[in-house]
Amino acid sequence: MKAVHIHDYGGIDVLKYEDADRPAPGAGEVLIRVHATTINPFDCAVRAGYMGQYFNYTFPLILGTDVSGVVEETGEGVTDVSPGDIVYTRTGVYRDGAHAEYALAIAADVVAKPQSLDHIHAAALPHVTLTAWQGLIEFADLSAGQTVLIHAAAGGVGHVAVQLAKWRGAKVIGTASINLPFLKELGVDEAIDYSTTAFDEVVKDVDVVLDLLGGETQQRSWKVLKPGGILLSTVQPPSQEVASAHGVRQRMIGTSPPVRMVLTEAAKMVADGQLKPHVSAVLPLADIQKAHAMIEGRHTRGKIVLQVVQ
Ligand SMILES: NC(=O)c1ccc[n+]([C@@H]2O[C@H](COP(=O)([O-])OP(=O)(O)OC[C@H]3O[C@@H](n4cnc5c(N)ncnc54)[C@H](OP(=O)(O)O)[C@@H]3O)[C@@H](O)[C@H]2O)c1
Repeated sequence: MKAVHIHDYGGIDVLKYEDADRPAPGAGEVLIRVHATTINPFDCAVRAGYMGQYFNYTFPLILGTDVSGVVEETGEGVTDVSPGDIVYTRTGVYRDGAHAEYALAIAADVVAKPQSLDHIHAAALPHVTLTAWQGLIEFADLSAGQTVLIHAAAGGVGHVAVQLAKWRGAKVIGTASINLPFLKELGVDEAIDYSTTAFDEVVKDVDVVLDLLGGETQQRSWKVLKPGGILLSTVQPPSQEVASAHGVRQRMIGTSPPVRMVLTEAAKMVADGQLKPHVSAVLPLADIQKAHAMIEGRHTRGKIVLQVVQ
């Protein structure tokens, strides 16, 4: 099969579109013919070598965590997924992933693809939806009448987080710069242009902050929370000491919530018209270097999808 390998950590030139061995599913696994996958900042972080301390990767390594495709083969003991099933899932966080013509997934994580979405749009959902869900639903249990501030609301995680928050009936404040018009399209109640306005001068008393940036954005976020509120980060573990000093709570997003449960709920939301993935660019898998460069430019809107089956 064709796949994108890295043989070492480094810049985008370590990404090689080349021949690879097609994997065979082990017990409890399925082999998926990948129709579409996406690029996430996580892939860039792995490629650059930042994640090697957390995961025991070996080379050559195939990146990519999202997949929408068709089950090709099932491993021993798999009873509820069959060859020919049209599915979407997340795979490959800790081993070879989906930037390939075929990818392995845990059968228990595989869910029927939302019927109204093509593979390109279905692939856009898993990684970012699992992330936003863990933060806003599992950790914050966001509810109607609450207010959430979502930093980088126009990106992959952010644009799904906005829709989850609206679904829960919350008021949403989002930040962006060049993608500010997209926030209005998403239904954000208050859109802040971070290039012209300091969010901490205009926002106060929010119940939840979803920090997708870390650094000084996280530091300035503590004071916009109301007492008892919660700061969630995908990027930098928030300090418990600082949280206590502000009378608020904190959680780092990272370990995945139950994949099948969340992707099943996401598929229902898609069917009900409450969740719509936004795909701003579709590239062939062979253009992987360009995809990494786009994500590293840090101004993409929604998701960049890699199409594997034309
Ligand atoms: N811990 C985990 O499990 C986990 C899971 C998923 C993601 N993450 C991390 O979460 C972060 C976000 O992921 P993502 O996929 O959403 O990224 P992304 O799609 O690459 O985010 C792009 C967006 O960031 C916005 N942005 C850039 N600088 C900003 C700033 N200073 N203030 C507000 N918005 C800004 C841009 O808006 P404008 O173009 O309008 O400026 C753009 O729309 C990444 O660092 C990723 O690695 C962690």
